[in-house]
Amino acid sequence: MRRLSIIGIGAGNPDHITVQATKALSSIDVIFLIDKGDDKESLAQLRKDICARYIKNPSFRIVAAQDPERDRATADYESAVTAWHAERAAIYERMIREELGETQHGAFLVWGDPSLYDSTLRIVDRVAAMQTVGFELDVIPGITSVQALAARHRVALNRIGEPVHITTGRQLAKGMAGDNVVVMLDGDCAFKSVKDGDVDIYWGAYIGTPDEILMSGTLRECGPEIEKVRNEARTRHGWIMDTYLLRKS
Ligand SMILES: C[S@@+](CC[C@H](N)C(=O)[O-])C[C@H]1O[C@@H](n2cnc3c(N)ncnc32)[C@H](O)[C@@H]1O
Repeated sequence: MRRLSIIGIGAGNPDHITVQATKALSSIDVIFLIDKGDDKESLAQLRKDICARYIKNPSFRIVAAQDPERDRATADYESAVTAWHAERAAIYERMIREELGETQHGAFLVWGDPSLYDSTLRIVDRVAAMQTVGFELDVIPGITSVQALAARHRVALNRIGEPVHITTGRQLAKGMAGDNVVVMLDGDCAFKSVKDGDVDIYWGAYIGTPDEILMSGTLRECGPEIEKVRNEARTRHGWIMDTYLLRKS
């Protein structure tokens, strides 16, 4: 039976890879890479560095495929994402069926942890449902960007007994749903929509990488400065990944 592992590799710091992940990597025959374009070449490089460091099999192969374009023009976000996932499932199915031998071990390396804002598990489930290729699946957790953010700011995500809400920039724009809100996938500084004066922000970009930027303070004072720093960094690198915690004080 083919074996397939979905391995969380942490969100940028190569030292955040777990012992369980390194053990799984040591027996890998094929790594499946989805190429998301030149802008994020440094992210692909981190994956390649992890392979070079932990994969023991000298004849392991990297099988890469181009990520299909998502239709960003349509107003119907959900059906655009569904169509995009179907295209990706077809690509994953072909890669597993054609590139992974019957007794081999393949892996997808997932940024952070596969359970958080990542579609790999959903897509691999779709592949399994096609019943065109059989495989045994395991999932190996990784350190999320949220944990890395909290560690770098030396804060807990919640105060005693309080819940934590993790959401996207798009959802935050509709209102702050709780006292401790972690925001990911924010293309446009959605914290600007928060009008409450008593909110602190703990912000981080490129966390765990040599380009890491951290800023914190009251949202009222820090927000405009974060927006400026973020725009400059995005122009300099051509892309940005940032995460932040908002906390009502
Ligand atoms: C598609 S989600 C993937 C999340 C990932 N599975 C995780 O566990 O962190 C991408 C979002 O994660 C966050 N992110 C991932 N890596 C990051 C990093 N090194 N620094 C800051 N934010 C990061 C950003 O909010 C980015 O928009």
